Amino acid sequence: MAKASIRGIEIGYDEVGTGTPVVLLHGYPFNRSMWSEQIEVLSARHRVLAPDLRGHGETSATTQPATMEEMAKDVAELMEKLNISRAAVCGLSMGGYVALALYRMFPLRARALVLADTRPGPDTEEARANREVQAKKALEEGMAGIADAMLPKLLAPNTVAKNPGAVARVRDMMLKTKPEGAAAALRGMAQRRDQTSFLSRVVAPALIVVGSEDMITPVSESELMHREIGGSRLKVIEGAGHVSNIEQTENFNHVLSTFLRDLEV
Ligand code: MLT
Repeated sequence: MAKASIRGIEIGYDEVGTGTPVVLLHGYPFNRSMWSEQIEVLSARHRVLAPDLRGHGETSATTQPATMEEMAKDVAELMEKLNISRAAVCGLSMGGYVALALYRMFPLRARALVLADTRPGPDTEEARANREVQAKKALEEGMAGIADAMLPKLLAPNTVAKNPGAVARVRDMMLKTKPEGAAAALRGMAQRRDQTSFLSRVVAPALIVVGSEDMITPVSESELMHREIGGSRLKVIEGAGHVSNIEQTENFNHVLSTFLRDLEV
């Protein structure tokens, strides 16, 4: 693990391997450790950078909402500091919101986009109100209640039944998230802008990945992104829920590595 001081906060990150750069952006309320199997496989051919997003893992939390734009600026500045001018940027769920914001704000930074288990649209009024309830709950009671309520929605029933290691790992990441960081991310996600109309302007090669049983960002959201992003590739990972890279690691790695390899030719 390394640390960098950027934009008034400390960012924790892993940087492994050499080759064409790949940036991995985790979901809420997880941290960069969710990518450990992807880092292991990809670092044989790539320089892989996996930061903890603002308020998560070993990156500082702030009291003000951590918007997707703030997180995207953190990532762009970290890339700048590490002399990574361009990378294939892969984000899962909240990481996908950030990846798309990064591409919108700094198009030259992303040579390719991987949007995993994510969506382009904003929250509904109801979802926004629920985020505020969750933010207060995190601050008042800590992360255990949030983790217990989220787990059945995050993972496919088969993962819950047959993969206790994945369940424990996802729960553990949630419990380790700082309540202030979770609250700031929830409030930042609630302010998320609608990026749907921007999708048709994405010219970078794009891979869209989704678990067939994703209950949080269902397959229909990925189909929408696939329709709107010209030339994009859509891969549905059978048997995975919302955390497809942990639930079906081998398939996820295959899809991601193939996409990255095809970029090189
Ligand atoms: C995530 O996995 O990052 C979150 O579920 C995204 C969200 O709550 O919108």
